[in-house]
Amino acid sequence: MKLIDGKALSNTIKEEIAAEVKRLSTNKKRPPHLAAVLVGEDPASAVYVRNKVTSCEKIGFESTLIKKRETTTEEELLEIVRELNEDKDVDGFIVQLPLPKHINEHKITLAIDPAKDVDGFHPTNFGKMAQGLPAYLPATPFGIMTMLDRYDIDVQGKNCVVLGRSNIVGTPISILLSRKATPGNATVTLCHSRTQNLEDYTRKADIIVIALGIPNYLKADMVKDGVVIIDVGINRIEAPERKSGYKLVGDADFEDLSEKCSFITPVPGGVGPMTVTSLLSNTLQAYKDHFLTNS
Ligand code: GUN
Repeated sequence: MKLIDGKALSNTIKEEIAAEVKRLSTNKKRPPHLAAVLVGEDPASAVYVRNKVTSCEKIGFESTLIKKRETTTEEELLEIVRELNEDKDVDGFIVQLPLPKHINEHKITLAIDPAKDVDGFHPTNFGKMAQGLPAYLPATPFGIMTMLDRYDIDVQGKNCVVLGRSNIVGTPISILLSRKATPGNATVTLCHSRTQNLEDYTRKADIIVIALGIPNYLKADMVKDGVVIIDVGINRIEAPERKSGYKLVGDADFEDLSEKCSFITPVPGGVGPMTVTSLLSNTLQAYKDHFLTNS
């Protein structure tokens, strides 16, 4: 088994971005600027957003964190989105999901200017992605494609099984893997909660992308020898032996699968850090597309 080290790869790519920022933001031009909006007190979201903001600082981006209380109204959040859309000093921004239940996520996503939608969630970017046009790709699928590319994992013609059909991971990664591109050209099956005899699919898979949110769901007896496993799950489970009282595990049972697979992403340190890096790549792209070309 070979580990796909998302943390190390993400650091390498961050160094590449930092070098480019240094080169581009000379001549008195401001550096790229990412803003993040966090609504409410969800502890996992707070950690993810903090990672995004501190990563910006490390690579020479400007960053702004807008923190709002749980009781923020939909109209208040829409107003923040409108202001960020208009702000010439912000190249891209994200609204961290999930949002409190009283706010309609689709309405917020639709309000974001696609030119600043560095999460790639707006239907304009999603549609462009599906048609193979230049677009800001959703961060987690973009990170997975980068991992497959940089680890030289052969995808073309392979049997890829995606578990989970969310708008932000399962559905877009199934499109990217099947696109006529490199990496891509895979034969993709998208499995979900209504799939019957799921193991018939997972046992035939050359590559499995799992994004279900169920701790340690995928076991060795569900896969064939030599499978590549991309684990998107980040689940907190109780661990009384740890000082914190919990630990993070993926959707794949790492210990059980490690002998049987050819490659696997660990949790933590696999897909997670790549998601942040993809967001930074999209922000750099937005800066080049709009700020640098207009100044
Ligand atoms: N929640 C979980 N993943 C993501 C992501 O990639 N972007 C945003 N905005 N929220 C998320």
